[in-house]
Amino acid sequence: MTASFQDWMKTVQAGMEQDLASYLPAADAVPAKLHAAMRYAVLDGGKRVRPLLVHAAGALFGADAQALSRAAAALEMIHAYSLVHDDMPCMDDDALRRGKPTVHVAYDEATALLVGDALQAQAFSVLAHAEALPPARLVGMLRLLADAAGSAGMCGGQAIDLDSVGLSLTLEQLERMHQLKTGALLRASVVLGAMAGKDLTQAELAALHAYARAIGLAFQVVDDVLDATADSATLGKTAGKDAADNKPTYVSILGLEPSIALAEKLRQEAHAALTPFGEQALRLRELADLIVQRKA
Ligand code: IPE
Ligand code: IPE
Ligand code: MG
Ligand code: MG
Ligand code: MG
Repeated sequence: MTASFQDWMKTVQAGMEQDLASYLPAADAVPAKLHAAMRYAVLDGGKRVRPLLVHAAGALFGADAQALSRAAAALEMIHAYSLVHDDMPCMDDDALRRGKPTVHVAYDEATALLVGDALQAQAFSVLAHAEALPPARLVGMLRLLADAAGSAGMCGGQAIDLDSVGLSLTLEQLERMHQLKTGALLRASVVLGAMAGKDLTQAELAALHAYARAIGLAFQVVDDVLDATADSATLGKTAGKDAADNKPTYVSILGLEPSIALAEKLRQEAHAALTPFGEQALRLRELADLIVQRKA
């Protein structure tokens, strides 16, 4: 019998917690402050949406468990690094993340900077050790992760975000910013999970891209909606921060109700894109629902 979505999610999250703990340096290994701060940033918190996407996409093609674990951990480490830097005073200047003081508050700014740098390097090391994968495919996966994290991906989106404070972007500009700062790592999660299973055909890649583009954008649209509608205790991060910082968001440009409607439209597009995969795409469908219907 197929496990319920909730049970499946809890199993993946618990396994990821254990695996991340084992892929990170021990907290007492020198330099202990940096290693303790890396573990503080990654462990015990977060929804683990990117690892869940990796596992759900891996399920399409019966991917090797160790390769999936390493790809999922690599994505989560890059994501955690992006959050540590996003919260620093030079970026969004936030004091709360995953219900805890941010890394630069709990430690200090220099440590937060190094935590991000070290987590990014660790992510590539963890994925590079996925020895069950054919070397050529593994190199392709490493390249894909690098592109998603770099200036043509997440970092590029963050640069546009910071340059856009106080500006009224067009919808095209806003979508581009969101697709880079948040969509890039979510798209990489889907494609890397699938690549852990097999060399993808053009048709498979196109269907996965269509799904991933829809949920990647929906994720940040919902993040913008929640920033405007939820409270800090529920979110585990400071609510109302986008308006306070004068950031262009879907809520500020489209309005609240149209943003919620757009997320729902994207959820349906994501479902439609999965049609070629049939029943095997159950978890990816459920994750599209979670991404749009989540409350935190
Ligand atoms: C928050 O990401 C930052 C964005 C990319 C919108 P998540 O909402 O996935 O944060 P965690 O990992 O659950 O803390
Ligand atoms: C952050 O976007 C995206 C990345 C960290 C790459 P936000 O600045 O909206 O994320 P939150 O709301 O602080 O989590
Ligand atoms: Mg930000
Ligand atoms: Mg932020
Ligand atoms: Mg936000």
